Amino acid sequence: MKDKMIKVLFVCLGNICRSPMAEFVMKQMVAEKGLANKFEIASAATEGYNEMVHEALDYRAADMLRQMKVPFTQHYSRQIRKSDYAKFDYILAMDDNNVRDILNIVGGDKDHKVHRLLDFTQNPRPVKDPWYTGNFDEAYWDIYEGCQAFLDFLNNAKILGTP
Ligand code: 4NP
Repeated sequence: MKDKMIKVLFVCLGNICRSPMAEFVMKQMVAEKGLANKFEIASAATEGYNEMVHEALDYRAADMLRQMKVPFTQHYSRQIRKSDYAKFDYILAMDDNNVRDILNIVGGDKDHKVHRLLDFTQNPRPVKDPWYTGNFDEAYWDIYEGCQAFLDFLNNAKILGTP
């Protein structure tokens, strides 16, 4: 039987720094493990302004990805929609404000799909917003740790079948 795709939506405030970095880091991680065909991975914002102005990936996030040799494609911010709740299996927020805003937009979390990314790690915490901290290095490594921990969770819970 063909395994069901695991659909993951990373979400932050603007969808130009943290969540697209997470999208591309996770895409690279699953590709390197030969698991790319088992995943659908995307990202979105909680606010709609950047979608309205067709904002692209922040240049500092792009520089960080280039520095870490993470491939990325053209990205434009888009806001999470109510319909995303049914479409995705995991909605992974960066911080507590994101969780609150996601729940408001999608109308609750009856299927327990919404988590903070770093809640899968041994040290649950938010991914601080580099738009404000200026620390894209810290955001990258937090995101890397979170994506690894999330993949470990999927493996340990036997959600990821054998390749
Ligand atoms: P992000 O960072 O949520 O990690 O994409 C931000 C990007 C843009 C803004 C805020 C945070 N903004 O106010 O436009």
